Amino acid sequence: MSEKKIILTGDRPTGKLHLGHYVGSLAARVKLQDTHQQFVMIADAQALTDHAHEPQKIRENILEVALDYLAVGIDPKVSTIFIQSLVPALPELTMYYLNLITWNRLKHNPTVKLEIQQKGYGEEVPAGFMIYPISQAADITAFKASVVPVGDDQIPMIEQTVEVVRKFNRLYKTDVLIEPKAVISTIARLPGVDGKAKMSKSLNNAIYLSDSVDVITKKVKGMYTDPGHLKVEDPGKVEGNPVFTYLDAFGQDKAKIEELKAHYARGGLGDSVVKKYLLETLLAFLEPIRKKREEFAKDPKEVMNYLFKGTEVAKRRAEQTLSEVRAAMGIDYKI
Ligand code: TRP
Repeated sequence: MSEKKIILTGDRPTGKLHLGHYVGSLAARVKLQDTHQQFVMIADAQALTDHAHEPQKIRENILEVALDYLAVGIDPKVSTIFIQSLVPALPELTMYYLNLITWNRLKHNPTVKLEIQQKGYGEEVPAGFMIYPISQAADITAFKASVVPVGDDQIPMIEQTVEVVRKFNRLYKTDVLIEPKAVISTIARLPGVDGKAKMSKSLNNAIYLSDSVDVITKKVKGMYTDPGHLKVEDPGKVEGNPVFTYLDAFGQDKAKIEELKAHYARGGLGDSVVKKYLLETLLAFLEPIRKKREEFAKDPKEVMNYLFKGTEVAKRRAEQTLSEVRAAMGIDYKI
């Protein structure tokens, strides 16, 4: 029997998932689930590190994220989908790993630094938030994952995980922890409909997997293009124009897209024509996803059952790693 490589990945349930999530990680998960043993975690505990004041919102979004997973084709019979906070081995591993990394190192995680700035925390950053990269190291190592398909903002987390693994294995002269590798999609980042570098819920510039036809139409019609492209006959910029980035990501007819790009760059092609083609492209891509989502949404109990079953499997796995970790540390005393 060939041992399949293990994947652990996940999302904070702070809202529904959007096209940026799709190109950044969901597409890879759907593809990799057949060739790997895949764990997909709904990171509710991590979401609480900056949402302690609204646990209800996190609770509600567990189902929404699960629906998005099922809708894009993450198959609960193939992948193990589970809820982070129901796996107690994870916070226990976090406790042990925290002792292997310095406070100074935590302060210099670039993604965390950026988030602190964006959230305006200043010095008043929740302690749980500061240490979430280490809880992420626990998530990844608990499943002995060697592959982590994520967006590029998560690279610093994987780097910190590798540091924890090396430190642990060296210090306790063991090889129980496995070094993970990030797998970044070729389109690491999808811009927002406003042209900003990143599609994100907080920037309010996202197209959601669950958006209705009307909403998608409105968002595409209002999309940022080349601000210098004022008249149809003017030459337009393709580079950095999100309309073309989306076409590259979701369009099937590559020859037609190249033709549109050339025409746009030459001049004589109006934004509205390109947007109309993009709209058709996105609607065709999203329709089956929306339909599937609506189907699953009719039976939320069944969806939650998938999660609970997955969580049982995840719990056993993480528990096993925890006992190996405790043994490696020599604290496997029986009481
Ligand atoms: N930090 C990830 C996000 O914000 C979620 C996450 C938590 C995760 N633990 C993980 C991703 C482990 C990959 C591996 O979306």
